[in-house]
Amino acid sequence: MRIYPSILNANFSCLSAELSSLQSADKIHLDIMDGAFVPAISFGSGVMKHVDFLLPFDVHLMVHNPKKYIDKWVELGSSTIIIHAENTDISDLQYIKKKQVRAGVVIDLTTEIQQVSEEMLEFADAVLIMTVKAGAGGQKFQDSALEKVRYIREKYPNKEIIVDGGVNDKTLQKCADAGATGAVVGSYLTNAPTSKRAEMIAALQNT
Ligand code: DX5
Ligand code: ZN
Repeated sequence: MRIYPSILNANFSCLSAELSSLQSADKIHLDIMDGAFVPAISFGSGVMKHVDFLLPFDVHLMVHNPKKYIDKWVELGSSTIIIHAENTDISDLQYIKKKQVRAGVVIDLTTEIQQVSEEMLEFADAVLIMTVKAGAGGQKFQDSALEKVRYIREKYPNKEIIVDGGVNDKTLQKCADAGATGAVVGSYLTNAPTSKRAEMIAALQNT
């Protein structure tokens, strides 16, 4: 399983040390929240522009108007820009891909798979399934989301499927069994001492 640590709940007073403790992971996951699409505000491209993540990074846009943010994150070298199915359409994914960046679509916990356009699922390089309600780290994993993982896996055998929210050593196996190929892992890693993280990441990657 590919492991993408989220730094949402990392200690930003020592961000370099936090990132260096995570560098055996596959990519970093950046959660962008604008206080409108979700209640919380996190950070934006302006704050992050001088940060060396030591790894490629994916960007998860939990924002009211994703179009406004795409160019900046392209400029900063995002690996994948992941936008919510609830407030975007295929033209946004096409716009991202035209910029030579991978395009991902995210389905929130309360969104039924039937509400998501099939052409978006088909076109996206990655589908991210929220296993908690988007908006905060540290929430409890919801098994109900696994049905969506199974559905996407069956329909698109080669698609990258990422799960996001409440993933830890116990919940990851269920995601792998359902067909996920990647997992965002936030507080399980960032709540642990930095010295333990490489070992934890290796165990998660072996799932
Ligand atoms: C939640 C974010 C997640 C979050 C994951 O809205 O999309 O990426 O940071 O954090 P944990 O692993 O603590 O649920
Ligand atoms: Zn996320």
